[in-house]
Parts: sequence; structure tokens; C-alpha cells
Amino acid sequence: MKLKMMYGFLNSDIALIEKELEQAIQTDYALISETSLHYLQAGGKRIRPVFVLLSGKFGHYDIEIIKNVAIALELIHMASLVHDDVIDDADTRRGKPTIKAKWDNRIAMYTGDYVFARSLELMANIQDVRAHEILSKTIVEVCLGEIEQIKDKYDLNQNLRTYLRRIKRKTALLIAASCQLGAIAAGAPEAVHKRLFWFGYNVGMAFQITDDILDFTASAEQLGKPAGSDLLQGNITLPVLYAIQDPEMRKKIEQLFESDHPEYHIDEVISHIKSSGSIQQSFKMSQRYLQKALVLLEELPSNKAKSTLHKIAEFIGNRKF
Ligand code: IPE
Ligand code: IPE
Ligand code: MG
Ligand code: MG
Repeated sequence: MKLKMMYGFLNSDIALIEKELEQAIQTDYALISETSLHYLQAGGKRIRPVFVLLSGKFGHYDIEIIKNVAIALELIHMASLVHDDVIDDADTRRGKPTIKAKWDNRIAMYTGDYVFARSLELMANIQDVRAHEILSKTIVEVCLGEIEQIKDKYDLNQNLRTYLRRIKRKTALLIAASCQLGAIAAGAPEAVHKRLFWFGYNVGMAFQITDDILDFTASAEQLGKPAGSDLLQGNITLPVLYAIQDPEMRKKIEQLFESDHPEYHIDEVISHIKSSGSIQQSFKMSQRYLQKALVLLEELPSNKAKSTLHKIAEFIGNRKF
């Protein structure tokens, strides 16, 4: 089943958010409008707004209030992608040239800042102080995750613990916050929003591990960027961490990093990683997080949102692109 079909009952609310996402970044400055619309119109799964809305269904759901959180979370995500592409020196995203490639790093830096600032403006509509505390802490963690990603680049001596901490910070906590803030904005009880946080955290870990697997197993067309991009950017992800336990594989990756033209050798390295068993090991790890997420979900009150979250979580753990 396609992701969009899973939350069909939210279609009109999602359409509203899509429209207001564009309005939220409108400005008289033509260049900033163009750059910030560039990623928005290129697509994206909009998974964070979907988590916000579904979690809001565990409280008093009012689209006029909760939409602010849903739009804000997608904009924060988008701003982090704009900056991430500068950090990772990435040329393509969502099948299009990145902002830093089409314009330049300087324009990407202020586009990211601008989109980020717009998200805070929307969040100002939320009264509950806890929402702001949670969001600001989450943003700090995302920044630290990205800083760790820079620090750990090309470092083959990092371990599983540093990898898990990094993906927690850069990805899982924003998904956790999407779930928790959706519930808080709808006035759901503390036991419910805390549980949704942990559900989102575990789904988010599975989501990033799957993303890291797909970088090796999916096609460039499916990814909207070349396969093996993570490794070419020096990002050591879970499949690589498992693979380099074999000294032969470690040597191959070292040689790739030392090469003047790593892009000539990446296909060969990808096929070695695929046949090393490390993809299966990574998949197992992602399934562990997914199972935990599903157990946490069980304890929540039964409603349509709960069964939809269940389907989306399973989809995320098994997605092929
Ligand atoms: C990409 O996130 C970066 C990660 C945290 C893996 P998404 O996979 O949600 O990206 P879009 O929004 O659908 O493009
Ligand atoms: C993106 O991480 C994480 C954030 C947006 C903070 P990645 O570097 O793994 O994501 P892609 O592969 O560029 O989408
Ligand atoms: Mg990146
Ligand atoms: Mg990635």
C-alpha cells in the first residue's frame, strides 16, 4: 500500500497543510521565495506533519490549532535539509539540484535560517509552554547531531554507540517531537503524549536506519540522488559499520576514501557491502526499534489514528524507497 493511502481520512487536512506550507514561506523577496519553494515543491513524504496530525487525534483535535505544529515541524525538517546539503556537499535532493548546487552555500545558509525562523513564527500560536521547551531542546539536539556527523566523517574508528547517538539526535528526536507535540497541542494527557514521544523515537530510529540501508540498496531514481551518496560524503552508516568488522572490507573503504576519484569505485564497494551480510544485520536492528515502537503503541487508546500509526510504522521499517 502507498503511504498516502494509509492516512486517506486526513486528506483534506493534509491538503490544507500543503497549501499553508507554501503561504508560510511567502515573502516579497523573490530570491528567498524561489529558493524556499524549491525543496517544498520538489515533494517529500511529509511524514512529520502526518505524525503530528495522527497524534493530535489522541486529544481534542482542532485543525486550526494543530496545523501550526504540523507546518512548523515540516519547515524545521526542510530547513535542516537545506543546511544538511551544505554540510554534506550534496548536489541532488528530491530529484532536483540542491539549493547549494543551484545557487550557492551562502544562499542555502540564509534560506535555511529563513525557513527555520518562519517555523518559529507559527509555533508562537501554541499556548502550552511545554511545547516550546520540547521543541527548543529538540532543535539543539538536531544541531548537535549534525555537528557530530561532521566530526565523525571518514572516521572508521567510530562505533555502534556513536552511530546510534548521532541518528537519535539528527532524526529520531524530531519524529518523536512531532508525535509528542501533536498530542500536546490537542491537550492529550501526559501519559499519552509521553508514550507517543517514545513511539516516535523508536520509529525515527528505524526510519534513519532504513534510510541508511536504502542508500546502498535503492536506485538513484528511487532515492532522488545517486546511490552510495552517504559513503561518498564520508558518512559512516550502520551497514558500513558492520561491514568494516571484516578487515578486507575495512581496507576497501579506506582505499575508497583515499582515492582521487571515489565515484569511479563506489559501485564496486556497494556490491561488496550488499554481499557482506551487513544489510541484513542493519535490517535486524531497524526491526528491533520497530517492534519496540509497536509495543508502545499497543498501550494507547484504540482509535483510527492508532491503527494508522501502526501501518505507517510498519511501512517505514519495510520501505523500499
Ligand atoms: C530525509 O528525511 C532525511 C532523514 C532524516 C532520513 P525524509 O526521508 O523524511 O525526507 P523527505 O522529506 O521525504 O524528502
Ligand atoms: C539528514 O541526514 C539529517 C537531517 C536532516 C538533520 P542525512 O545526511 O543522512 O540525510 P540525507 O541522506 O542527506 O537525506
Ligand atoms: Mg545529507
Ligand atoms: Mg541519508
